[in-house]
Amino acid sequence: MRRRIAAIVPAAGVGSRMGARIPKQYLTLAGKTVLEHTLSRLAQHPAIGEIVLAVAEDDHWIDALKPHFDAKVRLVTGGASRAQSVYNALCTLEDDTWALVHDGARACVQLSDIDQLLAADAPHGAILACPVTDTLKLADREGDISETVDRTLLWQAMTPQLFPVSLLREGYARAFGEHVELTDDASAMELLGYKPHLVEGRRDNIKITRPEDLALAEFYLQRREM
Ligand code: C5P
Repeated sequence: MRRRIAAIVPAAGVGSRMGARIPKQYLTLAGKTVLEHTLSRLAQHPAIGEIVLAVAEDDHWIDALKPHFDAKVRLVTGGASRAQSVYNALCTLEDDTWALVHDGARACVQLSDIDQLLAADAPHGAILACPVTDTLKLADREGDISETVDRTLLWQAMTPQLFPVSLLREGYARAFGEHVELTDDASAMELLGYKPHLVEGRRDNIKITRPEDLALAEFYLQRREM
């Protein structure tokens, strides 16, 4: 039987590290907003039946974009943290659905990477990630190097991340109850004791975070459209 898959796109952040006047998901890259690029990629994937988009309650930009969205897109109100935004979306989905959570700011995701993730043999879910290639330094409070970290088993987590809705909702509920702050969805599963699978993804699936990421993302998007 085919799994029912709903994408969840948390896009309710203000993007303070970008230092722009408008949230980073509404900056324009290659003729469209970051968020439109992300949503149109997800909408193109035939296995994704629905896209639940979490936006901030006081979002002033979304109304202008809505008419351009694919019919698969449905809006929910986000929360004060990424975790709360994802949770709000999870609460609108059926238990037997799988949630493919993807950050609104990762506009360069490729359909082939989504295929890889969906193909993973992982009953408790899987995430796209990349083995760390840089040498990693642990800092002390003064900003000096305290030690060099062994990177052989270290991976950088990316999105999409794919989990059964009921388990992910339970993981987030546990995190809120225990006041644990999470920055990705796999962490919620880890809190429940699960070990989600790592699927190696492409390095060009960058999260647009800082001003210098914009030119690179635009380059990747334009190259993809050629
Ligand atoms: O801040 P960061 O880049 O880690 O945010 C990751 C994603 O989570 C972004 O797409 C952002 O819009 C989203 N987010 C959210 N609700 C918040 C904060 C962040 O949906 N309150």
